Amino acid sequence: MKPHTIVWVTVIIYALYVAALIVFRLYPSDSDKLKIAQDSTPAATGRRVDNLWAYYLINEENPLPEDFTVGLEPVQGSFMLDERCAEYAKRMIADAAADGIELTVVSAYRSVQKQQENLESYIQRLRDAGYTSKDAKTLAEKEIALPYTSEHNAGLALDILTPDWWLTHDDVTADFEETEQFRWLSENADKYGFIMRYPKEYESVTGYVYEPWHYRFVGVYYAGKIKESGLPLEYFYKTNF
Ligand code: DAL
Ligand code: ZN
Repeated sequence: MKPHTIVWVTVIIYALYVAALIVFRLYPSDSDKLKIAQDSTPAATGRRVDNLWAYYLINEENPLPEDFTVGLEPVQGSFMLDERCAEYAKRMIADAAADGIELTVVSAYRSVQKQQENLESYIQRLRDAGYTSKDAKTLAEKEIALPYTSEHNAGLALDILTPDWWLTHDDVTADFEETEQFRWLSENADKYGFIMRYPKEYESVTGYVYEPWHYRFVGVYYAGKIKESGLPLEYFYKTNF
């Protein structure tokens, strides 16, 4: 090969490499996004955003990898979250208590196996109440995520109720929104990096019924931005990555 041909081939290979890098940065696939989000730190990205590791989508289209693992730390009693955000939850609970509001955690990290059990027992409960197997499954999957697709499996979600909830209820229900705990969370949860993840207006987008009790850690910066936008994470994430 002539020397100038070698130079041209080298230049073209390099140009293709740079183009591939640019395309990857501009249009990462969803699984690449998950990886980037998990590997990212403000220092690595140059962005002044806290807890970028927690900013990713977990839903039916974006399940956790089968080999997903998480380091856990208790936040209240035996309820645990990812050790990187447990401190934020503890501070939120303590600051609410200082304002006279007792936040009671009723679910936090759940193993994939526990998720499966919850789903199965809820389907059974609906069947016992007279639903056909098909309807019971459809209804249950609007309330309980499939294994690997729940934010609880990632150790990023908390279900919060009032201390006396079970005296008057036998399930988590939307009337939690009438409590002072909900009002406090609506006002303050974002300051600790949590968003109310399944809003009333976007059931068809999130795929789940309104869950005023379910709070998802995304970091303080993004929690503020998401609250400000009024959008569900599915929409916000698409346009803000
Ligand atoms: N209830 C929510 C959707 C979950 O199971 O993660
Ligand atoms: Zn939940």
